[in-house]
Amino acid sequence: MCESSPYQKVQNSSTKIPKTGQEHLKNSMTLGKIEDKSDLRVRQTAATMVRAWYMNDTNEDQRLEHQLSPPKFLSLDDLFTTSGILYWKLDPKNYESKLEEIKKERGYNYMDVIQISPDKLHNYEEKIKIFFAEHLHADEEIRFVTEGSGYFDARDKADKWVRIEVTPGDLIILPAGIYHRFTLDSKNYIRVIRLFVGEPVWTPHTRPADNMEVRTKYVEQQKAGFVNHNSQMKTGLVN
Ligand SMILES: [Fe+2]
Repeated sequence: MCESSPYQKVQNSSTKIPKTGQEHLKNSMTLGKIEDKSDLRVRQTAATMVRAWYMNDTNEDQRLEHQLSPPKFLSLDDLFTTSGILYWKLDPKNYESKLEEIKKERGYNYMDVIQISPDKLHNYEEKIKIFFAEHLHADEEIRFVTEGSGYFDARDKADKWVRIEVTPGDLIILPAGIYHRFTLDSKNYIRVIRLFVGEPVWTPHTRPADNMEVRTKYVEQQKAGFVNHNSQMKTGLVN
Protein backbone atom coordinates (compact mmCIF):
# COMPACT_ATOMS: atom_id res chain seq x y z
CA MET A 1 0.00 0.00 0.00
CA CYS A 2 2.55 2.50 -1.12
CA GLU A 3 0.53 4.33 -3.74
CA SER A 4 0.60 8.07 -3.30
CA SER A 5 -2.85 9.62 -3.05
CA PRO A 6 -2.72 12.91 -1.13
CA TYR A 7 -6.01 13.64 0.53
CA GLN A 8 -5.54 15.81 3.56
CA LYS A 9 -2.63 17.38 5.35
CA VAL A 10 -2.70 18.41 8.98
CA GLN A 11 -0.32 20.29 11.21
CA ASN A 12 0.85 18.70 14.43
CA SER A 13 3.82 19.88 16.47
CA SER A 14 3.57 17.37 19.31
CA THR A 15 6.72 15.32 19.90
CA LYS A 16 5.78 13.34 23.01
CA ILE A 17 7.12 9.92 22.12
CA PRO A 18 7.08 6.74 24.23
CA LYS A 19 10.58 5.59 25.09
CA THR A 20 10.54 1.84 25.00
CA GLY A 21 8.75 -1.01 23.38
CA GLN A 22 7.02 -1.90 26.59
CA GLU A 23 5.83 1.67 26.89
CA HIS A 24 4.57 1.44 23.33
CA LEU A 25 2.71 -1.67 24.27
CA LYS A 26 1.30 -0.18 27.45
CA ASN A 27 0.22 2.89 25.55
CA SER A 28 -1.46 0.79 22.92
CA MET A 29 -3.38 -0.81 25.73
CA THR A 30 -4.48 2.49 27.18
CA LEU A 31 -5.70 3.72 23.85
CA GLY A 32 -8.78 1.60 23.76
CA LYS A 33 -7.50 -1.90 23.27
CA ILE A 34 -6.72 -3.64 26.53
CA GLU A 35 -8.66 -3.85 29.77
CA ASP A 36 -5.86 -4.44 32.30
CA LYS A 37 -3.18 -1.80 31.90
CA SER A 38 -0.96 -3.09 34.71
CA ASP A 39 -0.04 -6.39 33.11
CA LEU A 40 1.77 -6.67 29.79
CA ARG A 41 0.47 -10.23 29.41
CA VAL A 42 -3.05 -8.94 29.52
CA ARG A 43 -6.31 -10.52 28.64
CA GLN A 44 -7.80 -9.53 25.35
CA THR A 45 -11.52 -9.68 24.80
CA ALA A 46 -12.87 -11.30 21.68
CA ALA A 47 -13.99 -7.89 20.47
CA THR A 48 -10.51 -6.37 20.74
CA MET A 49 -8.28 -9.31 19.92
CA VAL A 50 -5.89 -8.94 17.06
CA ARG A 51 -6.08 -11.93 14.77
CA ALA A 52 -2.56 -12.89 13.76
CA TRP A 53 -1.35 -16.33 12.77
CA TYR A 54 1.52 -18.23 11.21
CA MET A 55 0.98 -18.92 7.53
CA ASN A 56 1.18 -22.10 5.54
CA ASP A 57 3.28 -21.98 2.39
CA THR A 58 0.79 -23.25 -0.14
CA ASN A 59 0.41 -21.56 -3.49
CA GLU A 60 -3.31 -20.96 -3.06
CA ASP A 61 -4.86 -17.56 -3.70
CA GLN A 62 -3.04 -14.93 -1.63
CA ARG A 63 -6.44 -13.59 -0.53
CA LEU A 64 -7.22 -16.77 1.47
CA GLU A 65 -6.30 -17.04 5.16
CA HIS A 66 -3.43 -19.50 4.72
CA GLN A 67 -3.81 -20.90 8.23
CA LEU A 68 -1.62 -23.76 9.44
CA SER A 69 -3.41 -27.00 10.34
CA PRO A 70 -4.10 -26.78 13.21
CA PRO A 71 -4.01 -22.97 13.27
CA LYS A 72 -1.26 -21.26 15.25
CA PHE A 73 -2.18 -17.78 16.47
CA LEU A 74 -0.04 -15.07 18.02
CA SER A 75 -1.09 -12.84 20.88
CA LEU A 76 -0.57 -9.10 20.75
CA ASP A 77 2.49 -9.52 22.96
CA ASP A 78 3.95 -12.23 20.73
CA LEU A 79 3.36 -10.12 17.66
CA PHE A 80 5.17 -7.18 19.21
CA THR A 81 8.16 -9.07 20.59
CA THR A 82 8.78 -10.98 17.39
CA SER A 83 8.20 -8.15 14.92
CA GLY A 84 7.91 -4.78 16.67
CA ILE A 85 4.47 -4.30 15.13
CA LEU A 86 2.16 -2.03 17.09
CA TYR A 87 -1.59 -2.38 16.97
CA TRP A 88 -4.50 -0.35 18.26
CA LYS A 89 -8.22 -1.06 18.15
CA LEU A 90 -10.38 2.02 17.73
CA ASP A 91 -14.09 2.42 17.36
CA PRO A 92 -14.52 2.42 13.57
CA LYS A 93 -17.57 4.70 13.85
CA ASN A 94 -16.15 7.11 16.40
CA TYR A 95 -12.40 7.14 16.07
CA GLU A 96 -11.51 10.78 15.51
CA SER A 97 -10.46 11.72 19.05
CA LYS A 98 -8.44 8.54 19.62
CA LEU A 99 -6.78 8.84 16.25
CA GLU A 100 -5.90 12.43 17.04
CA GLU A 101 -4.43 11.31 20.36
CA ILE A 102 -2.21 8.77 18.63
CA LYS A 103 -1.18 11.25 15.97
CA LYS A 104 -0.12 13.74 18.60
CA GLU A 105 1.68 11.17 20.67
CA ARG A 106 3.67 9.81 17.76
CA GLY A 107 4.10 12.96 15.74
CA TYR A 108 2.08 11.94 12.71
CA ASN A 109 1.29 15.15 10.88
CA TYR A 110 0.35 13.85 7.43
CA MET A 111 -2.59 11.72 6.45
CA ASP A 112 -4.48 10.71 3.37
CA VAL A 113 -6.98 8.06 2.31
CA ILE A 114 -6.62 5.22 -0.13
CA GLN A 115 -9.24 2.76 -1.33
CA ILE A 116 -8.22 -0.52 -2.88
CA SER A 117 -10.63 -2.54 -4.98
CA PRO A 118 -10.83 -3.54 -8.62
CA ASP A 119 -13.02 -0.54 -9.48
CA LYS A 120 -11.47 2.09 -7.21
CA LEU A 121 -7.74 1.74 -7.81
CA HIS A 122 -6.14 2.52 -11.13
CA ASN A 123 -4.03 -0.39 -12.42
CA TYR A 124 -5.50 -2.58 -9.69
CA GLU A 125 -3.92 -5.90 -10.69
CA GLU A 126 -0.49 -4.34 -11.08
CA LYS A 127 -0.74 -2.53 -7.76
CA ILE A 128 -1.87 -5.65 -5.92
CA LYS A 129 1.22 -7.47 -7.14
CA ILE A 130 3.43 -4.60 -5.96
CA PHE A 131 1.78 -4.57 -2.53
CA PHE A 132 2.31 -8.35 -2.21
CA ALA A 133 6.00 -8.30 -3.16
CA GLU A 134 8.08 -8.60 0.01
CA HIS A 135 9.66 -5.25 0.83
CA LEU A 136 10.65 -2.81 3.54
CA HIS A 137 10.53 0.95 3.98
CA ALA A 138 12.92 3.44 5.51
CA ASP A 139 10.01 4.71 7.62
CA GLU A 140 7.09 3.28 9.52
CA GLU A 141 4.06 2.08 7.57
CA ILE A 142 1.00 3.31 9.46
CA ARG A 143 -2.47 2.30 8.39
CA PHE A 144 -5.89 2.80 9.96
CA VAL A 145 -8.70 0.75 8.45
CA THR A 146 -12.04 2.52 8.15
CA GLU A 147 -13.84 0.12 5.79
CA GLY A 148 -13.26 -3.33 4.34
CA SER A 149 -10.48 -5.69 5.32
CA GLY A 150 -7.18 -7.22 4.30
CA TYR A 151 -3.98 -8.87 5.49
CA PHE A 152 -0.57 -7.55 6.38
CA ASP A 153 2.10 -10.24 6.33
CA ALA A 154 5.35 -9.75 8.23
CA ARG A 155 8.35 -11.89 9.09
CA ASP A 156 8.95 -13.11 12.61
CA LYS A 157 12.37 -13.62 14.27
CA ALA A 158 12.78 -16.96 12.51
CA ASP A 159 11.87 -15.40 9.16
CA LYS A 160 8.49 -17.10 9.10
CA TRP A 161 5.46 -15.31 7.70
CA VAL A 162 2.90 -14.02 10.17
CA ARG A 163 -0.44 -12.88 8.76
CA ILE A 164 -2.29 -10.06 10.51
CA GLU A 165 -5.93 -9.53 9.73
CA VAL A 166 -7.08 -5.92 9.64
CA THR A 167 -10.71 -4.83 9.76
CA PRO A 168 -12.49 -1.51 10.46
CA GLY A 169 -11.06 0.14 13.58
CA ASP A 170 -7.63 -1.49 13.33
CA LEU A 171 -4.60 0.77 13.35
CA ILE A 172 -1.35 -1.00 12.62
CA ILE A 173 2.19 0.35 12.65
CA LEU A 174 4.86 -1.62 10.87
CA PRO A 175 8.29 -0.47 12.05
CA ALA A 176 10.87 0.86 9.64
CA GLY A 177 13.04 -1.92 8.24
CA ILE A 178 10.55 -4.78 8.64
CA TYR A 179 10.05 -7.10 5.68
CA HIS A 180 6.35 -7.22 4.91
CA ARG A 181 3.64 -7.27 2.25
CA PHE A 182 -0.08 -6.59 1.93
CA THR A 183 -3.00 -8.23 0.24
CA LEU A 184 -6.72 -7.80 0.14
CA ASP A 185 -8.78 -10.75 1.36
CA SER A 186 -11.48 -12.46 -0.67
CA LYS A 187 -13.85 -9.50 -0.19
CA ASN A 188 -11.59 -7.41 -2.43
CA TYR A 189 -12.05 -4.06 -0.72
CA ILE A 190 -10.35 -1.91 1.87
CA ARG A 191 -10.36 1.78 2.73
CA VAL A 192 -7.50 2.99 4.90
CA ILE A 193 -6.12 6.21 6.29
CA ARG A 194 -2.38 6.46 5.84
CA LEU A 195 -0.34 8.44 8.34
CA PHE A 196 3.21 9.70 8.21
CA VAL A 197 5.72 11.97 9.92
CA GLY A 198 6.45 14.85 7.55
CA GLU A 199 6.24 14.54 3.78
CA PRO A 200 5.36 10.93 2.96
CA VAL A 201 7.81 8.60 1.26
CA TRP A 202 6.12 5.43 0.10
CA THR A 203 9.15 3.87 -1.62
CA PRO A 204 9.23 0.08 -1.22
CA HIS A 205 12.68 -1.58 -1.10
CA THR A 206 12.23 -5.10 -2.39
CA ARG A 207 13.93 -7.91 -0.53
CA PRO A 208 16.91 -8.36 -0.34
CA ALA A 209 17.61 -5.02 1.29
CA ASP A 210 19.68 -6.40 4.15
CA ASN A 211 22.47 -3.86 3.81
CA MET A 212 20.25 -0.86 4.38
CA GLU A 213 20.98 0.87 7.67
CA VAL A 214 17.32 0.83 8.61
CA ARG A 215 17.25 -2.94 8.16
CA THR A 216 20.37 -3.42 10.28
CA LYS A 217 18.85 -1.39 13.08
CA TYR A 218 15.60 -3.28 12.83
CA VAL A 219 17.35 -6.65 13.07
CA GLU A 220 19.24 -5.49 16.17
CA GLN A 221 15.98 -4.52 17.83
CA GLN A 222 14.33 -7.74 16.77
CA LYS A 223 17.11 -9.84 18.29
CA ALA A 224 16.57 -7.98 21.57
CA GLY A 225 12.83 -8.65 21.42
CA PHE A 226 12.18 -4.92 21.02
CA VAL A 227 12.73 -4.52 24.77
CA ASN A 228 14.68 -1.31 24.28
CA HIS A 229 12.88 -0.29 21.14
CA ASN A 230 12.99 3.46 20.77
CA SER A 231 10.59 5.14 18.42
CA GLN A 232 13.06 7.93 17.76
CA MET A 233 14.83 5.50 15.46
CA LYS A 234 11.63 5.07 13.50
CA THR A 235 10.21 8.52 13.46
CA GLY A 236 13.30 10.70 13.62
CA LEU A 237 11.65 12.75 16.36
CA VAL A 238 13.16 13.67 19.69
CA ASN A 239 11.56 14.77 22.93
FE1 LIG B 1 4.82 -1.47 2.57
